[in-house]
Amino acid sequence: MLAAATTIGVASWLSAQGIWNLMSRWLCALLNIKGDTKTPHAQQSGPSDLRSLYYNRSRFWTLVGSGMTLGLWLIRPTIPYNHMTGALPFVLLGEHSRARRITVDSFPLPELLAAEFYEPAKGHYKGWAPTMDDAGNRGYGNDKPAWAQGPLPLAFERWIVNPEANMTGITNTSRTELSGSDDKGDLGHRNKTTGPRQYFYNPSQDPTRITNLDLDPLGPLQEALKDHAIPINHIVFVFLESGRKDLFPLKTDSRLYNQIRETYDIYSDEDVEDLHDKLSTITPFAEMLTGEESGFGQSGHINSEFGGISFDGILSGSSLSAKSRLVNYCGLGPLPVDFMHENDIIPYQPCLMHIMDLFNQRKSASSRSENSTNDPREREWQTLYAQSVTGGFQDQTELMELLGFNQSLYSEDIDITNAKYYHDGMEKINYFGYAETEVGPYIKDMINETLSQNKRLFLSHFTSTTHHPWGTPEDYHRQKYFGHKHRSQHEAMDDFLNANSFVDSWLGELMEMLQEAGIADETLTVFVGDHGQAFREDCPVTGTYQNPHISNFRVPLLFHHPLLPRLHLDVNGSAISILPTILDLLVTTSSLNEADSIIAQDLMNEYEGQSLIRPYRASHNGREAWNMGVINAGGTMLSVGSAAVPWRLNLPLNNDFEYRFTDLERDPFELDPATAWSMGGLAADVYSKFGPEAVDWVLKAEKVGLWWVTERKKLWNYEDEEE
Ligand SMILES: *[C@@H]1O[C@H](CO)[C@@H](O)[C@H](O)[C@H]1NC(C)=O
Ligand SMILES: *[C@@H]1O[C@H](CO)[C@@H](O)[C@H](O)[C@H]1NC(C)=O
Ligand SMILES: *[C@@H]1O[C@H](CO)[C@@H](O)[C@H](O)[C@H]1NC(C)=O
Ligand SMILES: *[C@@H]1O[C@H](CO)[C@@H](O)[C@H](O)[C@H]1NC(C)=O
Ligand SMILES: *[C@@H]1O[C@H](CO)[C@@H](O)[C@H](O)[C@H]1NC(C)=O
Ligand SMILES: *[C@@H]1O[C@H](CO)[C@@H](O)[C@H](O)[C@H]1NC(C)=O
Ligand SMILES: *[C@@H]1O[C@H](CO)[C@@H](O)[C@H](O)[C@H]1NC(C)=O
Ligand SMILES: *[C@@H]1O[C@H](CO)[C@@H](O)[C@H](O)[C@H]1NC(C)=O
Repeated sequence: MLAAATTIGVASWLSAQGIWNLMSRWLCALLNIKGDTKTPHAQQSGPSDLRSLYYNRSRFWTLVGSGMTLGLWLIRPTIPYNHMTGALPFVLLGEHSRARRITVDSFPLPELLAAEFYEPAKGHYKGWAPTMDDAGNRGYGNDKPAWAQGPLPLAFERWIVNPEANMTGITNTSRTELSGSDDKGDLGHRNKTTGPRQYFYNPSQDPTRITNLDLDPLGPLQEALKDHAIPINHIVFVFLESGRKDLFPLKTDSRLYNQIRETYDIYSDEDVEDLHDKLSTITPFAEMLTGEESGFGQSGHINSEFGGISFDGILSGSSLSAKSRLVNYCGLGPLPVDFMHENDIIPYQPCLMHIMDLFNQRKSASSRSENSTNDPREREWQTLYAQSVTGGFQDQTELMELLGFNQSLYSEDIDITNAKYYHDGMEKINYFGYAETEVGPYIKDMINETLSQNKRLFLSHFTSTTHHPWGTPEDYHRQKYFGHKHRSQHEAMDDFLNANSFVDSWLGELMEMLQEAGIADETLTVFVGDHGQAFREDCPVTGTYQNPHISNFRVPLLFHHPLLPRLHLDVNGSAISILPTILDLLVTTSSLNEADSIIAQDLMNEYEGQSLIRPYRASHNGREAWNMGVINAGGTMLSVGSAAVPWRLNLPLNNDFEYRFTDLERDPFELDPATAWSMGGLAADVYSKFGPEAVDWVLKAEKVGLWWVTERKKLWNYEDEEE
């Protein structure tokens, strides 16, 4: 940047005088001021004979130039080149106005909200009857469930209503005062937004909400439950950095496999076997866990010790890790704004950790001591978080505290010399920190301590080796998985495969720890990718930043428990379903006591996502199960898709990006997207390539997407700075 700035600076300094002279001449010519000696600058403009040489010619060119500028300005090129006829400083200053003004006041498809589609409240279900005004959201706090009386963790803000206040449900007292004595009062200072929240998520008012909790759990799960208990006394939540579904596990029917294979000279079955032997070492543990056969002929180790529900088709809620975390832990939609403003705002839905907190609060100390020894359901939850990389990036430590973790561990805690397992030769494997194995002993301790305190473990771990630049520890034996053909084009992917292989065996170690602690048969382990990762092999743009490609969104999702039946399901849903599914699993397997069970059943009905252990509803009464994905860095694009159709729209949120449409049925890897700089242009293209139905959908998707963006800002109590 300095070099460029210097070059431009020197060049303009050298040419300034010349340009000044030229412009004076032109302007003089234009205004017909002959031999203008009045302005001091003209005096410097060289010998008058030289000037006169230009005089008539320059008058001509000035006129031509002005005419052209005016003409170009009148017929400005379309977005994104519309700034090209502007003068530099003005274009830069005007950059702000390039953001599209998006405010959608009411749901754009009112025909779907007809009274005939209304559903009455029933049992724990809150009903569905959206109105066009937002009174139902503002007054939501007044509808307090019986269990919500008394102090609540802060994230249950909607029910922490000042009893003095009127039926508007608006609290004007400091939130800290209201939240009860033993809460994390320090969160009260996080009020950098526009005062207390007045607009809450109300499930019966969400025009896009579809529930499937009225349907029975999946048949095989019911069968298994009839056969044996499936106790979930502990939960381990593993968050896979850049976790791609096609690498959990790698399979022979994937595009990636074919891409690797093409780089080899394959002459015989033996060559194929050799290749398969090599590739089978990348993700053998993922293969065991998911029970999805890789096809490498080594699947003997898919054993019956493992059970669980593995998904195809699940998309990440955001391609920015931190926003994706919010979706996974809290079952909500992140703020479609660049960067992590969410760090300062209480999430608009309680996160899993807040719910565990609530469970703890609701068990009186006496019932706990009396019943805890025999019944695990009476025990307190301990919420822990561990990663081997820095917590400083994007203020992650702050976010994790806000999300309700009782205790967290980052690289900052392990690379001080008096850390418990500090040792010489600790080696950073990327610019964020260490390999996961460095936190292994700490995780062991966390498990041990939690168990010895007779508590229930809620442990979350974020893997990190699979982050760019995909370094692995020195002593790790790296392989070349791609063959010799075009090797240089596959270096990055090869590094990524090595990192995946490293993490795969680390996951094995992690599961081994549960085995050693004796809790493997009573622990639900959830594996989910925080987002995917696009490589050269997938699309022209690498990485997640401002890249809408589907490879950044296809993530593995596995609910693993040795006693769960093995299921492999195809659901075109999103990570927003994880929280309701965990609650549903806890209730369905009777892993909560009676009081907690009632709370969990109520709460399940408070979230946007459907439960993945029941048949998924792709659409209901004309409304579709939308999948929104906030694209890294947050505020520039939104991925809009739906379980009801194979189509996907990339919706730009400012004028710098293109509209982009793909059909995942015809083109599952998005090799040939339709793109345009305006919705009109895109619609025309979609019409000719995909037909009228696709156009109807894409127009609808744009409206719903923009509404979703506006709605998230309201729910997050966020106001655009310019407004
Ligand atoms: C400019 O053109 C006019 C005729 O159009 C001529 O009389 C005059 O001498 C020219 N001036 C110069 C400086 O060449
Ligand atoms: C409650 O609200 C109603 C109307 O919204 C108003 O008439 C009444 O005075 C309010 N009561 C209190 C105690 O503020
Ligand atoms: C809350 O509102 C009431 C009535 O509008 C007002 O009297 C009171 O001072 C407010 N409290 C705070 C803390 O602002
Ligand atoms: C939060 O709000 C309180 C009262 O509304 C105010 O005194 C305090 O300064 C605010 N804190 C921050 C960090 O803005
Ligand atoms: C202890 O558990 C038993 C059943 O497991 C229950 O009947 C009893 O009410 C519990 N005690 C308390 C104090 O909650
Ligand atoms: C964690 O839990 C313990 C007891 O359960 C409590 O004393 C402590 O304050 C909690 N820490 C945080 C940061 O919430
Ligand atoms: C925790 O570790 C200690 C020492 O290593 C061991 O004695 C104890 O049995 C462990 N406790 C549990 C619950 O695993
Ligand atoms: C999920 O989407 C893909 C691509 O559109 C489609 O082929 C598949 O049938 C869908 N699966 C389900 C269960 O709807």
